[in-house]
Amino acid sequence: MVSSLASNIILALVVVLMTLLRQNKPLQKWFVSYVEKLLSRKSNLAQKVSVLSPSLKLVDVEKSISADQSNLSKINYQIPTLPDLTGNLIRLHEYRARGEGYNGLLFRRARQLNGISEDQLQKLGYFTKLMKNNEGIRENARVIDKIIEFTLGKLIHSNEHDEEFTEEIEKICAEHGYKIKDGHLIQLNPDFVFPIVSSRGSQSVVHEALAHLCRDFSSYYSVERDPLQNFIISRINHHVISAGDMKEKILIVTPGAGVGGLSHTLATTFPKIQVDSIELSALMYICNLFALEYKHDVKIRPFVQQYSCQTVFDNQLRSLSADLSKVGHRSNLDPLWGDFTRYSPISKDYDKIIICSAYFIDTAENMFEYLSSIEALKKYCKELHWVNVGPLKYGTKPLVQFTGDELSRLRKIRGWKDLVEEYEVDSSKGLNGYLTDYESMYQGYYGLLKFHSVFES
Ligand SMILES: C[S@@+](CC[C@H](N)C(=O)[O-])C[C@H]1O[C@@H](n2cnc3c(N)ncnc32)[C@H](O)[C@@H]1O
Repeated sequence: MVSSLASNIILALVVVLMTLLRQNKPLQKWFVSYVEKLLSRKSNLAQKVSVLSPSLKLVDVEKSISADQSNLSKINYQIPTLPDLTGNLIRLHEYRARGEGYNGLLFRRARQLNGISEDQLQKLGYFTKLMKNNEGIRENARVIDKIIEFTLGKLIHSNEHDEEFTEEIEKICAEHGYKIKDGHLIQLNPDFVFPIVSSRGSQSVVHEALAHLCRDFSSYYSVERDPLQNFIISRINHHVISAGDMKEKILIVTPGAGVGGLSHTLATTFPKIQVDSIELSALMYICNLFALEYKHDVKIRPFVQQYSCQTVFDNQLRSLSADLSKVGHRSNLDPLWGDFTRYSPISKDYDKIIICSAYFIDTAENMFEYLSSIEALKKYCKELHWVNVGPLKYGTKPLVQFTGDELSRLRKIRGWKDLVEEYEVDSSKGLNGYLTDYESMYQGYYGLLKFHSVFES
């Protein structure tokens, strides 16, 4: 009774306000700018909240410290912010709607054909294929739901004692169809799809992150991982670790860790060595944390949206198992989220630091910045090693694009001494695939530049 009276009063007030706004232009202007200010204050608040890794603990950087963030995280400054995380969770969430939307587009395109062609498409089962493809997308979306749920759970758990962020976290959970009860996530309606489709970014990064979970944790892709990992592990075993000397304090750093397969393997192979992995992309990083903590295998269909170069539809739809049940927690592994060039170790007295980079150096916009950041680690150790394996396929807008030979001479100029440098470019001996579909009519392979260098100056 009381509540219906209250809602009637509120309704009447809203009607009066709307009428006033409609009739009074200056009032209308003031109201719009007031609401805008309110909204921007909210987003500015979130903007100032940083996300520490690997805990996903939130901190209001301005309140916690003045300029120096080094006591918060091994990522020294430009720590990723809460909107960096939430924007990417929304991208993940949109996977299903966007994937099915694309299939809808293919459906409509085919329907533009004339009656005879459409008849033949029916006979081929072309439309059934598109519908089955939607099922594949929905199955991937179920894995994505688990990734989102895991990330929200971690966010809640790491911040449960900090009331300052409770409202913000509740809002984020609600955006994905969850509420929080007694510190646990409750899904409001499991069958309800939230078709947000509000982020502007492309979905290719979501496909990439899912595919990388297979690359790093599925037996199917050991053919891509093994040559990289074997080279790095063999160099560390035979040329870095002194035989019999278990007392050395060593740190391994893996920049551009992707979803973390290499860093996990290194932490497992060398349990006495601390491994810090650093990944810039929020989506890769979220998947990295998921892989480390989820503990169950997941089935992913990495090729589901690749319509080109398929021999049969079953190949396009096939799933690979990311064997996450085999991925155990490693206390010597610290997966960090941020820019590698902003990273520094917590301790200054390492005997050796080993940078292990795989398919990473060619991501540099400015190769000199990568080199300086790697060399800056010399301050933290007596001996600095760099073991690298990967191609030189430069990414977006690089300031310089070195050949292998130029890079080799540049290392020498800057005080590096190569212990080994070799290329694998002979296709008859096998090149290295990268997220390659080995059943497809299009298969991409890379040659590799492998080197192990020690910084001497
Ligand atoms: C080509 S992928 C390779 C990933 C992984 N190493 C592998 O072999 O699967 C390069 C990765 O480096 C990351 N990356 C690029 N620039 C970075 C930076 N400045 N700091 C940390 N990670 C970075 C990208 O987000 C991407 O995940």
